[in-house]
Amino acid sequence: SGRLDLDGLRIVVTAGGTREPFDPVRFMGNRSSGKQGMAVAAAAAVRGAIVTLIAANIGTDAVPDGIAVIDVSTTLELEKAVQTAAGQADVVIMAAAVADYRPAQVRQGKIKKEATGDRLTVEFVVNPDILAELSAAKHEGQTIIGFAAETEPDPATLLELGRAKIARKGCDFLVVNNVGWKTGFATDDNDVVVLNRAGDIVMEVSGSKLSVADRILDATLTGV
Ligand code: C5P
Repeated sequence: SGRLDLDGLRIVVTAGGTREPFDPVRFMGNRSSGKQGMAVAAAAAVRGAIVTLIAANIGTDAVPDGIAVIDVSTTLELEKAVQTAAGQADVVIMAAAVADYRPAQVRQGKIKKEATGDRLTVEFVVNPDILAELSAAKHEGQTIIGFAAETEPDPATLLELGRAKIARKGCDFLVVNNVGWKTGFATDDNDVVVLNRAGDIVMEVSGSKLSVADRILDATLTGV
C-alpha cells in the first residue's frame, strides 16, 4: 500500500505449524505452510512496523530483511517464545497452526516395529491454548488477533463457529479462514472473514495471501 501507517508499531506474528515429537525421528504435525503468517509479517514490515516472526517449521529464507525471526518447533517452544515477545508487543497475531495435543511421553529411542508388534498406541495430552492465555494476560492497549482454519462448507455455520471461537479465546479479532473450500493451506490465495469481539463481520476478503495480509492489518489495526 506504500504508506508507513504502522510506523514503529511492535508486532509479533506466529506462522507455520507446531510439531510434537514422540520419538527422535517422528512427530505429529499439520499441513500449515506458514504462507499467510509470513505474508502478514512481510506486509506489516513494509508498512513500518517492527516485526518479530515466530516461525514454526517453515523455511524462513524468504523472510524480508529487518524482520527478527525466532525459530521454534513444538507448541511449548512457541508458547515460551511468544509469551516472552508479547511483553513488549503492541500487537500479537497468532497465525500459526498450533497442535492441540502432544504425546504424553517422548521415547528416548526410535520406536521399533519388532518391539511394538502390529499396533502402536500413543497417548496425547492437551496443549495450553496460547491464544487464550495471551488474551487473558494482555496489557492495556495491546491487540491480540487469532486465526481459525475451518472445514465447514456452510457459510452460516462457519460464522457461528467463528463467533463461538472468538468468545472462547477472548481475542480482539479472529480471522476465519476456510480451508475446506477452494483455498487454504499451502496455496497462494486465501479467502477470509474477520470478526471482532462482538462477533460482527468487520471484513470479508479473497485474494493473494499478501493482499489478504494487508487487508487484515487494515481491518484490525487501522479500522479501515
Ligand atoms: O481452536 P483453534 O485451534 O481453531 O484456534 C486457532 C487459533 O488459536 C489460532 O490463532 C492458533 O494460533 C491458536 N491456538 C493456540 N494454542 C493452541 C491452539 C490454537 O494459540 N493450543
